[in-house]
Amino acid sequence: MIIAIDGPAASGKGTVARALAARFGLPHLDTGLLYRAVGFAALTRGLDLEDAAALAALAAGLDLAAFDPEALKSGPVGEAASRVAALPQVRAALLKLQRDFAARPGGAVLDGRDIGTVIAPQAEVKIFVTASPEARAARRYRELSQRGEAVSETSVLEDIRRRDARDSGRASAPLVKALDAVELDNTALSAAESVARALEIVAARI
Ligand code: C5P
Repeated sequence: MIIAIDGPAASGKGTVARALAARFGLPHLDTGLLYRAVGFAALTRGLDLEDAAALAALAAGLDLAAFDPEALKSGPVGEAASRVAALPQVRAALLKLQRDFAARPGGAVLDGRDIGTVIAPQAEVKIFVTASPEARAARRYRELSQRGEAVSETSVLEDIRRRDARDSGRASAPLVKALDAVELDNTALSAAESVARALEIVAARI
């Protein structure tokens, strides 16, 4: 069984994906980490975030295990990830790794922006996790503040809106709900309620 979880920044799709993976004993790939790793490596090496050829070469040689997941979670790395993710050459360089993961014999859970549309259109279960920009900004603000990043809630909301616009407006694999995905709007739900709803969606599909 392939479970595809897509949705915008800070929608809680990671929480849903991890819970479903644990529940069904499936491996989980947070594909945002791949783009974040490319963004992080590009920032560290001082690469131009528009140099598609250099960034694609970086993405092609990427070893996710070499990165500290914590270092990938910062606001600036998320912003760099969203910029490099708009480049078709970078997306192409990361495609095989993601498709291979989805094709694992026992199945898999993947979360990102284009799992149900591009990476695994054949997925048995597709969930589009979303929430209002304000609810997502409040969550991301809490997360970043807990990490000790000095941010304001207003600037986090602006970042979320900018990322939404870039992720949805890009020509290459834009963030869009697959026609056969079930939408899970968790604006008014707790994380536990969101997971419970996702389990119902899976149960109805298998
Ligand atoms: O989900 P997360 O915020 O970690 O993703 C970081 C960025 O990576 C997103 O803003 C998006 O631009 C990009 N991304 C993508 N396709 C995916 C996963 C992430 O374009 N499948």
